[in-house]
Amino acid sequence: MKIIGILVFNLFILLTIVNGQSINTREEIDFLVQTRKPTHLLKENNPGGCKTCHAGITYIGNEEEVQCYTCHGTKNKRSKKLNQMRLKIKESKIVSEDFEKLYRHPVERRGLHKYIEIFPVTNPYEPRHAECLDCHNPHKSIPEVPHWGVTGVGADGKFLKNAYFEYEVCFKCHGADANKPLYQKNKVKEFNPNNPSYHPVVAPGKNNYLPSLKVGLTYESMIRCSSCHGSDSKDKKRVSGVHGSNNEYILVASYTKTEETIKPQYDLCYECHRIESILGNESFPYHREHIEGVKARDWKGTSCSTCHTPHGSEKNKFLIEFNPDYVTRDSINNKIEFVSEGMFKGSCYLKCHNVEHSPKSYSK
Ligand code: HEC
Ligand code: HEC
Ligand code: HEC
Ligand code: HEC
Ligand code: HEC
Ligand code: HEC
Ligand code: HEC
Repeated sequence: MKIIGILVFNLFILLTIVNGQSINTREEIDFLVQTRKPTHLLKENNPGGCKTCHAGITYIGNEEEVQCYTCHGTKNKRSKKLNQMRLKIKESKIVSEDFEKLYRHPVERRGLHKYIEIFPVTNPYEPRHAECLDCHNPHKSIPEVPHWGVTGVGADGKFLKNAYFEYEVCFKCHGADANKPLYQKNKVKEFNPNNPSYHPVVAPGKNNYLPSLKVGLTYESMIRCSSCHGSDSKDKKRVSGVHGSNNEYILVASYTKTEETIKPQYDLCYECHRIESILGNESFPYHREHIEGVKARDWKGTSCSTCHTPHGSEKNKFLIEFNPDYVTRDSINNKIEFVSEGMFKGSCYLKCHNVEHSPKSYSK
């Protein structure tokens, strides 16, 4: 009976993985961590045991990423002393290359992580940091839950001793923190399931009719922060994880925010939304002319981000949030506003590319 239970359970996990993203429930995570031995305590992964990382009670190498790079770094990144200890281990994923990219988590800022820290940070002068140990616990992590054993901040904004979901790890530093850069928005608020729209990271989405979703994704699908943020490497060496990327904002694929770019790219969105559907105007009937522009009338193309936020909107449906860098108030009503008037029907009050929308309306 028990064996059948485990088999059915594994099949279930397999199905969720095949169907887009693998997001385990709290119960599944409990089951996984109870039945798997932590990766770094398995002999075949780490024949040196505790001693690989510890000499007595202190751990070797204050810069923990150097210690981790002994197995997760390219040759030149490995510490000599530790390298001698790098006995024959099974292959391990190389992450150091992603941390050398232009956009990355600043793991090279050292000595700022404390074993016990409380988030969100309330002191605006506290230096920002992000080390391996903020997101991973080498004593506890397992392949299915690489962040198992670290602290978090829940969808309610409160500190958690033990994060279950990946986003809870991210909310530690990208939520209400008083020391985050001014341009960053509070992700706990952006992903609040009470919002009229959001990408389904914390809870399943609210829009049950999206013509653009690729096969395998439905309105019930959930995605993760790391579905969009992580390494841009495309080859077999690609290592998952929100480590570093050559794309701005540590994005897995290119995404142009700036207007009037010679060759704008929206590959990120097209990983999950069919390009033919978006440019075929299957929902918003003026997608194509906005995105590509209209040469004959000398209209330039516009980025998705001029109209959409990638995370969630506290105000609008369809992730509509106009980018204030390019969109201003209309001259007649003095408003920047989107009004949804039913499926594929709405009005916009704004001024953009010097075109007044006072309002301009659409319907299919
Ligand atoms: C892959 C490297 C690695 C291995 C293997 C490892 N540790 Fe650790 N350990 C660390 C690091 C890094 C820290 C610091 C954690 C922090 O500051 O968040 C640590 C902290 C600790 C601490 C103090 C904090 C705590 O978690 O209680 C103890 C005790 C400890 N380790 C014991 C052990 C024992 C016992 C083993 C073997 C069963 C072991 N470690 C194996 C890397 C390792
Ligand atoms: C003795 C070699 C060794 C050291 C040192 C080491 N790792 Fe690993 N680690 C492995 C192996 C082997 C795996 C399994 C294959 C893989 O995913 O890379 C692994 C897997 C992982 C994973 C994937 C999740 C999991 O648990 O399977 C994470 C995250 C990770 N290591 C983080 C760290 C961090 C952080 C450090 C430094 C504190 C560290 N490792 C130090 C060998 C090591
Ligand atoms: C311990 C703190 C910490 C945690 C946990 C953390 N981050 Fe960060 N993150 C930072 C710091 C520090 C930076 C550098 C810029 C800054 O200060 O925000 C950064 C930068 C970023 C950036 C680039 C922002 C930009 O403006 O270029 C993204 C995207 C990001 N983090 C996403 C995530 C995601 C996704 C997670 C969860 C998997 C996460 N972070 C977890 C501290 C953290
Ligand atoms: C659907 C893709 C997608 C998902 C899912 C996603 N992001 Fe982003 N994120 C982006 C894009 C695109 C940008 C940059 C463009 C922008 O801000 O308009 C960005 C920007 C950011 C930034 C820097 C700017 C800012 O607004 O603060 C941070 C930090 C960040 N994301 C963290 C997160 C965290 C944490 C999560 C999960 C809770 C997450 N993201 C989920 C696509 C995504
Ligand atoms: C990893 C997959 C993934 C990526 C990448 C992605 N999306 Fe989505 N998106 C989804 C899913 C799943 C939904 C369905 C949510 C729902 O049913 O409400 C969705 C919904 C939406 C919606 C409708 C939300 C609503 O409530 O009506 C918009 C608009 C949208 N995405 C725009 C974008 C843009 C713009 C990008 C690029 C920055 C992007 N998406 C990237 C998976 C993705
Ligand atoms: C800001 C949070 C963050 C930091 C800092 C971070 N990681 Fe990760 N890492 C992640 C996330 C999230 C994943 C899992 C992504 C997924 O499941 O797709 C991951 C995955 C991994 C994996 C598994 C890769 C794979 O393809 O299986 C390894 C190994 C790893 N991290 C090692 C490290 C090491 C070593 C450091 C420090 C040098 C580090 N990470 C720093 C968030 C982080
Ligand atoms: C000029 C503003 C504007 C731009 C630019 C824009 N959108 Fe939209 N988009 C909208 C509006 C308005 C809706 C809501 C349509 C409705 O009422 O249902 C929408 C709806 C959507 C939807 C949900 C319905 C569907 O088609 O599945 C997705 C996904 C989407 N847009 C993706 C994108 C992507 C990707 C880009 C960039 C390549 C983009 N949009 C550029 C205004 C815009």
